[in-house]
Amino acid sequence: MTIYERLKQEHDEARALFEKLTGERDAGGESREALFEQLKLDLWVHHKLEEAVFYSQLVAHRETKGEAFEAINEHHIANGLLEELDSMPKSSTAWQAKLGTLKELVEHHMEEEEEETFEEARGVLSDAQAEEIGKAMQDRKKVVLAALQPIELKAS
Ligand SMILES: [Fe+2]
Ligand SMILES: [Fe+2]
Repeated sequence: MTIYERLKQEHDEARALFEKLTGERDAGGESREALFEQLKLDLWVHHKLEEAVFYSQLVAHRETKGEAFEAINEHHIANGLLEELDSMPKSSTAWQAKLGTLKELVEHHMEEEEEETFEEARGVLSDAQAEEIGKAMQDRKKVVLAALQPIELKAS
C-alpha cells in the first residue's frame, strides 16, 4: 500500500469517528467518552507518524516545503484542541461546540492533503518511495501503539 492509500484510509477512519461523535446525541456519556478516547489516540498517532514519514520527505523539496510546514502547523492546532477537549466535561455544550471546530479544521485539512498535497508529493516522490514510506508508516504505527499501552507489572 502506498503512503497515499494508507493516509486516505486513516482519514476515512477519522471521518467515521467524527460522524459518530457528532451524530450520537442520544447515546450515553460513556459511549461519547470511548469514541473521543479513540479519536484522540488515532489523530495524535496519525499526525505524529504523518510528520515523521511523509512530511519529513516533503520539507526536503523546494516545491513541497511550504505545504509541509503549513500542514505541520495545522497538526499542532488540532492536537491543542484535542488536549482542551480532553480536559472538559464531555456532556457540555461548550465541548460540542469545540468538537465542531476540531471537526471542521481536521476535515478541511484532510481534504487539502488528499486533493493538493498528495498531487504535489507525487511530483517529488517516486512510486517506489511512496510504497516504501507507506510500509514504514504501517511498521511504525504498530510500534507506537504497542509503546502507548499501559504497563502491567508482574506480581512481586
Ligand atoms: Fe495531516
Ligand atoms: Fe493526514
